[in-house]
Amino acid sequence: MVDSLSSSLRRVVVLGTGGTIAGRAASGGDNIGYTAGQVGVADLLGGIDAPEGLVLVAEQVAQLDSKDMDFGVWVQLARRCAFWLAEADVAGVVITHGTDTLEETAFFLQAVLAPDKPVVLTCAMRPATSLSPDGPQNVRDAIAVAATSSAQGVTVVCAGVIHSAMDVQKVHTYRQDAFASGDAGPVGYVEEGAVRRLRDWPRSQAGGNSRILEADEKAIALSPRVEILTSHAGASGAIVDLLLQERAAGCADPMRGLVLAATGNGTVHHALEAAALRAQDAGVAVLRATRCTSGRILPRPDDKLRNAGALTPVKARIALMLELIGKAA
Ligand code: SIN
Repeated sequence: MVDSLSSSLRRVVVLGTGGTIAGRAASGGDNIGYTAGQVGVADLLGGIDAPEGLVLVAEQVAQLDSKDMDFGVWVQLARRCAFWLAEADVAGVVITHGTDTLEETAFFLQAVLAPDKPVVLTCAMRPATSLSPDGPQNVRDAIAVAATSSAQGVTVVCAGVIHSAMDVQKVHTYRQDAFASGDAGPVGYVEEGAVRRLRDWPRSQAGGNSRILEADEKAIALSPRVEILTSHAGASGAIVDLLLQERAAGCADPMRGLVLAATGNGTVHHALEAAALRAQDAGVAVLRATRCTSGRILPRPDDKLRNAGALTPVKARIALMLELIGKAA
């Protein structure tokens, strides 16, 4: 942590949340048998020199395996980003994160903050203890993006590629270049500390969605429950009906939204669709998102269930949660 600096220096704040990038294994040759979220973010910056004119500030916000990410950590992270981005001398924020739900956190932060400065998530596919870890180079590249004065919005930097939060998806279980941006393609590349941009940065919006940032802890704990169910060959409506029964019985945290991970152009198995229509009639917000990794759902005149356009099911779930929170306020 650095807390004093000359007036000509700008700060890049690196927020740690855990992940493989902070993972530890018993031996350097082990790239899969590690425990995620072990090494502190200040230590991750250990061998990394700040680029000319920049000072790095490290802050640990969470320390977890990102499969266990939840709404409460997202809100805490969004608040820390908002705090630091409001400081005049902060050029941008980098977030070290696990790869498994990185696209969800990136989408949440873009939806809530839509910042006019860069927020750059980065990660690693190999633990910090690996013989050849990918984390340090990814962090260096992310810092280069965060220090780029024209940059804005939430992006992901991995293996030298810059992805928009709106388009990024984890597409590989093992390879270091584990992310892709589908039809949209990457925002650009980082090459030896220089950003080569191919298309616009994610959009910024003054004020973002400040209601979430101001929500009290009780409201966060009561974040609307939105389930995801996949349509597939032989699907049924049984789980939807059980969730509706639970709702009707007055359970403490009833399903308020349902995302259907639909086939192709948003089609849903007839049995699951019938149950989803029952859920919609009962007041559940239902959204169809495609299982396909590229493309968007093109609407048809006879659609009875809304579609999520190009959003993946996990991003559609976040969009629906935020919509429900907006309606409740
Ligand atoms: C995680 O997502 O926290 C573990 C897996 C990874 O970072 O690659």
